[in-house]
Parts: sequence; structure tokens; C-alpha cells
Amino acid sequence: MWAIDRERLLELLYLPFRASGEKPSLVRISRAHISGVSYLNIGEAGLQLLRDISETGMKVRVRTTLNPGFSELSDEGRALCDPSTFNEQNEIARCFTKMGVTPTFSCTPYLEGNVPKRGEHLAWAESSAVLYSNSVIGAWTNKESGIGALAAALIGATSRTGVHVPSGRDPGLRVEYEGDVNDEVTAGALGYAAGEASGDRIPSVRSKGLLARDRTIEFLAAFGTSGAAPMVVIEGMPPSIGKHPRKELKRTTLSKRDITGVLERFETGNPPEAVLIGCPHLARISAQELSELRNRRSNLPVYVFTSRRTKARLAQSGLLERLRKDGVTVVADACVMWCGLRTLGYRSVVTNSVKGAHYLRNQMHIDAGLEPLRELTRGLT
Ligand code: F3S
Repeated sequence: MWAIDRERLLELLYLPFRASGEKPSLVRISRAHISGVSYLNIGEAGLQLLRDISETGMKVRVRTTLNPGFSELSDEGRALCDPSTFNEQNEIARCFTKMGVTPTFSCTPYLEGNVPKRGEHLAWAESSAVLYSNSVIGAWTNKESGIGALAAALIGATSRTGVHVPSGRDPGLRVEYEGDVNDEVTAGALGYAAGEASGDRIPSVRSKGLLARDRTIEFLAAFGTSGAAPMVVIEGMPPSIGKHPRKELKRTTLSKRDITGVLERFETGNPPEAVLIGCPHLARISAQELSELRNRRSNLPVYVFTSRRTKARLAQSGLLERLRKDGVTVVADACVMWCGLRTLGYRSVVTNSVKGAHYLRNQMHIDAGLEPLRELTRGLT
């Protein structure tokens, strides 16, 4: 077993200062959110590390929540996942719970379960949640690794670097998009293109139509897929806390052709066998979203990914059963990269998430196309 103690965890938090030669400095955090929870990603080696840490008896010192895993941890989930993967995902949950982590299994903690306030310092590890917290809420968090967020949660502090320092929140370039953003897929494609153009620089982005919540979420999730920066300054959002230099920023203009170019990368020659919605997780699903799902004309099965809390609310209100009758399965606890896709043998799917399509192709090797929810619910054939 790897000897894990407070000193070892502090070494992890001091790592960023080793490279720069600066004196290590920590900042107290009020919340943590841990990714690297899916058995698909961490495998046996990651699970063993979690067993080792949980056996030390250390507990998290701040409210700490978990990203989605590989399967739903319920009888329904067990039926749709191979037994050993289901058991291993369950053991991951037990290890975290032993450390005092709240097993929310959701990637939208900023909407429910672990909602930060402006100015709070956090140690969050899910890139889409990091980007939303910094860019929309005005909280302060770097893009932590899964183990970095866990170490910070156990210590109650993280490295005072990057966007925890006011000057680290200044934009380094300006990105302008000449077209309109009329749906969440265009927003995702713009985020993906902006992420590629920005690299590790925080961009200041100007574009029409980005302020609707579903589009902001898909824009930031896709930005975090192709780019490394933990924050975007979106024109029209309340200004984030930073110094905002007056100096002229280097300007990059994205054209409609750039957006089409991203969408073309996700074109698929195969007809979809299922519809996937909820990357990032749908939280507090609105009556409007539900009625769109129920009124769809497509005969394809639909899978909606959300938190167990939202699924329980749907069950209590009777909506879960009505959706099920309409061919809509609500999956809790799991990422869109879900073990059920393997069990059910889907080779080609369609989603409204650029981030989801990217990972489904690259990690699950499933052909994933893109359509906005509006089109998905209108019917695919
Ligand atoms: Fe969430 Fe998985 Fe998408 S963690 S953001 S559903 S890739």
C-alpha cells in the first residue's frame, strides 16, 4: 500500500510551486468536487488508490461531491451493466462515502448539490463545472485533477495559483464570433472552436445568443474539451473578479465556416440507434424540456442523464413512469459514457452535446452525431 498521510497530500498541493520555484502558498477552500470517479477511467489501479486512502480514516473537511460514474447504482442500473463493472463502481462509491464525500454523482453541482457563491474558493475537478463556476458564478477554482481535488478536500485548502490569484483571471485574448448562436449545438461548436483558438489563455468572448443557460452550459463544456483554460470572460455576464487589463488584447475572429468545420468533424454516415441527452447532466429538468421529450415523433429510444436527486423527484411526481412509457429512460449516477451503451450494443447515437459526442467517439468508440434538442424532438427520420 502507498503510504498516504497529510504530508503526502501537502506534497501534491505544493507541486505547482516546484516548477516555478515560488514559495508554496495555500488558499482555504469552502467546497470540493471530484472527478475521476468512473471505473471506465480509473480502472483497478485507481480503485486500489481509493481503497488505500479510505483505509487511512482521513475525512474531507469541506462539502465535497462526486462526478458521475460508469453505471447507475440501483437495481435498474445493475440490470443494464455487466456485474463486475457494477460492483467495482459501487466499491468506488463506498470508498468516497467512507471519506465523508457526498455521492451526488452529478457533473452539474453548480445547479444542485454543491452550489457555490461568488468569490468562494473551490477545488473542483470537472472541467465543465470549473468553467461555469468561474465564468458565470464568479467563484474561484483551477481545473484540478481528480486526485488533486480529493487531496484539497482532505486538507481543506488548495494551491494558491492560477485563477485563485486576481491577476490569474485576466483574459489573454479576445475571441469574436460574427454569427448568431441559436441553439445548444451551435453554442457547443463555438465553445470547441474557441477552446482550440485559446489553448491555455483565458479568452474574452463576444457573441450573440450565448447568455441562454442551456447554451452557456454547452458552450463552456465544449470549451473545456478542446481548451485548457479554466475560465472564459463572456461579454454580458457579470464581470468576474480580476484586474481586467486595459491593454489591447490579441483578437481572433471565428467565422460561420469555423463552426461548420467543427460540426463536420462530428458528421456520421450511420443512422443513429439512440438519442442521448444530458451532457452535462440535466438538473431541475423543466416542464418544457419534459414535454418536448414526451412529444417527440422519433421512434428511437431516448436516454436522459441526470442526478439521482432529479430522478427521485421525477419518480415522486409520476413523470418518470410517463416518460418510460414514451420510450424515455432516465439514467441517474452515470456519465453519458455509460456502461449501458455497451450492454445494449449501440454503435451509433445522436446527442445535442459537442462534449458528449467528442468523448463518446474517442473513449467509447461509438459513432456520435449532433442535433439540437429542438430537432431531436421533432423526429429524426
Ligand atoms: Fe458530465 Fe460525462 Fe458529459 S461527466 S459533462 S456527462 S462527459
